[in-house]
Amino acid sequence: MIYLNGKFLPIEQAYIPVLDRGFIFGDGVYEVIPVYSRKPFRLSEHLIRLQHSLDGIRLDNPHSEAHWSQLIAHIIAHNEGEDQYLYLHITRGVAKRDHAFPLGVPPTVFIMSTPLPPPPQALLASGVPAITAQDNRWGRCDIKAISLLPNVLLRQLAIDARTMETILLRDGLLTEGAASNIFIVKDEVLLAPPKDHRMLPGITYDVVLELAETHAIPHAVREISEAELRSAQEIMLTSSTKEILAITRLDGEPVGNAKPGPVFQQLNQHYQAYKATMMRGQPALS
Ligand code: PDD
Repeated sequence: MIYLNGKFLPIEQAYIPVLDRGFIFGDGVYEVIPVYSRKPFRLSEHLIRLQHSLDGIRLDNPHSEAHWSQLIAHIIAHNEGEDQYLYLHITRGVAKRDHAFPLGVPPTVFIMSTPLPPPPQALLASGVPAITAQDNRWGRCDIKAISLLPNVLLRQLAIDARTMETILLRDGLLTEGAASNIFIVKDEVLLAPPKDHRMLPGITYDVVLELAETHAIPHAVREISEAELRSAQEIMLTSSTKEILAITRLDGEPVGNAKPGPVFQQLNQHYQAYKATMMRGQPALS
């Protein structure tokens, strides 16, 4: 069951008009929220980032946090799987094609849920390969915009090379992955690029830095050069759907000894423990 503009429907019965600005211009924003044991993980953080994205494209938030929570609870309850991921999508609505914002048009609001399998044990054990590419996206990568053509093209490079992710470099600096945030380990210190307009402020990224702080894992947030990326002891990616994965080959070269490293192992353990505690302590939404 999905939610579309005030109605709960089976996905097969959900349609939008062809003049929707999401379809015509990619004029909208989205969120992806993991759900564990039928409870949304870090919901308020995701809703705050949604607000940031909406502000970034000058679109009013159609719902209060309480209303979003209700809609989300309904979708979670009526979809399969203890673990799911929610996709929330808001566009500037349906109007005659014109680049200018339409006046008085209600936004299109869509929510769906997909089962979320845990990251495969084999990938956790072996790590995954990645490639690099130049980051040729726009200057507001902090907005979670539905216009994802550059990300789609960049991610496909990874698929074509039979790897998991494309790591992006802009002006000689690491930004993020085509659909993930990237950390490296250098001199036993976990390093993360700073959150600014060049990358999406990842919710998993925040969790990882919090865990590093709590568990006294040396860490720093600062710009990371291409040379540092290429000589890193460890590289890892984070996202709501992939959690944390070690990247053990970059452009065909081994990262460290080509095995998931000790910082990854620690962070992944802490992440799993944190997830379990969060989910136990949190009442189900109603
Ligand atoms: N993508 N950077 C980009 C470009 C992303 O698309 C994502 C996530 C992230 C990680 O953010 P978070 O930890 O909040 O998931 C970073 C989602 C999963 C997607 O588009 O499907």
